[in-house]
Amino acid sequence: MRIIILISVFLLSLESTAGADGKKVFETYCWGCHHQTAVAFGPPFSEIASKRSAEEIEAMITDPEGVSKIFGYKRNAMPTLKLTPQERKEITAYILSFKPKGGK
Ligand code: HEC
Repeated sequence: MRIIILISVFLLSLESTAGADGKKVFETYCWGCHHQTAVAFGPPFSEIASKRSAEEIEAMITDPEGVSKIFGYKRNAMPTLKLTPQERKEITAYILSFKPKGGK
């Protein structure tokens, strides 16, 4: 019985760190070119979140060269970053957390 409680507590604590990991992925791979709400080299996460779905964001991270064309950019300046599927999910959730409230 005790071991079951221990395992559940462990699993719960894993889940609650999901948001924090998205921030870590951002600081490791994206920060030089994207900021949360200010324009840097690339668009800010708040702007991305207001116009893209999770699928579109994940597609852009996986294949920036192909997907930036679909998004209407004339030139691609974002490198292909080697993220694990887990890191991709976490950074996508992190970006979407900047979706402006009350906007479309
Ligand atoms: C070397 C600079 C650079 C790095 C590093 C970078 N980006 Fe980008 N990103 C850009 C630029 C510039 C654009 C604008 C489109 C283009 O040039 O292809 C862009 C565009 C995007 C877009 C699409 C914007 C739109 O119109 O919706 C997403 C999503 C995105 N980046 C996510 C990320 C994520 C997540 C990371 C980190 C894992 C990251 N980028 C790292 C430069 C970068």
